[in-house]
Amino acid sequence: MQVFISGAAGFLGSHLAESYVGQGAHVVGCDNLIGGELSNLPEGIQFEQADCCDVGAMKRLMGGSDLVYHCAAIATEGLSVFSPALIAQHVYQNTAAMLAAAASNGIGRFINCSSMARYGDAQAPFTEDTKPQPVDPYGIAKYAAEMLVKNVADTHGFEYAIAVPHNIIGPKQKYDDPYRNVASIMINRMLKGEQPIIYGDGGQKRCFSFVQDCVDPLMKMGTRDGIASEVINIGPDEEYISILELAHTIADLMNFTLDPIFVPERPREVRYATCSADKARRLLDYETKVSLRDGLRSIIEWIRANGTRPFQYHLPIEIDSPLVPNTWKQRMM
Ligand SMILES: NC(=O)c1ccc[n+]([C@@H]2O[C@H](COP(=O)([O-])OP(=O)(O)OC[C@H]3O[C@@H](n4cnc5c(N)ncnc54)[C@H](O)[C@@H]3O)[C@@H](O)[C@H]2O)c1
Repeated sequence: MQVFISGAAGFLGSHLAESYVGQGAHVVGCDNLIGGELSNLPEGIQFEQADCCDVGAMKRLMGGSDLVYHCAAIATEGLSVFSPALIAQHVYQNTAAMLAAAASNGIGRFINCSSMARYGDAQAPFTEDTKPQPVDPYGIAKYAAEMLVKNVADTHGFEYAIAVPHNIIGPKQKYDDPYRNVASIMINRMLKGEQPIIYGDGGQKRCFSFVQDCVDPLMKMGTRDGIASEVINIGPDEEYISILELAHTIADLMNFTLDPIFVPERPREVRYATCSADKARRLLDYETKVSLRDGLRSIIEWIRANGTRPFQYHLPIEIDSPLVPNTWKQRMM
């Protein structure tokens, strides 16, 4: 089997690629390296640095693949409020180009990585029947991309499925990006002896998923019968904790004296967001195998081994407004 993975040098894409290579598949990957790293790539992958918005490159690279995973995105939900054009390009437009290539190549199945941001501030826990009501440009772009996937796949005759992961954690996640990945940001700061920064009162609640607990069901989405056209939440629904509790848990694991820095809340941040995993249990035998504490331990070990890093303010803020958090404007991290 030949599998094509976009965003293969990113966090989720690289783990997925590693698992498929481990199963003996021929894995072809691309990434523009805007948020990924070559060191994430597994041995054995056929990789090319390319942007998914480049239809010609995607057509060429996707040739011969049966299965496509679209993991490439700029996944910075908070920043999307201030950089809607950047996010539209690297969430919606890149999906359009991937679909053009998939339809031209006669691929069998297209698995699109969406996001829990599709549900916006609907009543949690979100089931797949919850009406999408995204509240920020990232969620809107993700939901629009899903509609495009369905439309192009139905017209041009290939199978698709929509994966809805949420708050994934684990080794290889970017920890020097000030715009996303709260657990990795906190750990990078605490390992440097710096207090974690919390937006608002820290009462926002989330469920964190360990990356391999996402990769296993994603692989089943690629190969199982009965999955076509389904939207499936991917991730746990057991340990639903607040951001302040997350900071306490990390501090406890690191013997760090917690004294968080509280800064104003960010515009459009959803307060309560968690997904039901019932459908994934039913269709994909989903099971949470790694607890939050064990997942956090593995990130702490990984960042320790790789060394702490200064934060890189590598993405443009398109709307310079008083609403831009000072953490970003004044580069507080
Ligand atoms: N990590 C999470 O908690 C989470 C939660 C929900 C959904 N998702 C979705 O899962 C997917 C993977 O997320 P991740 O956490 O691995 O992010 P990531 O940033 O680690 O990986 C995404 C990769 O895509 C690449 N990329 C971005 N735009 C590109 C483009 N136009 N062309 C080629 N490559 C491009 C980046 O360089 C990066 O390596 C994304 O679609 C994301 O929106 C992630």
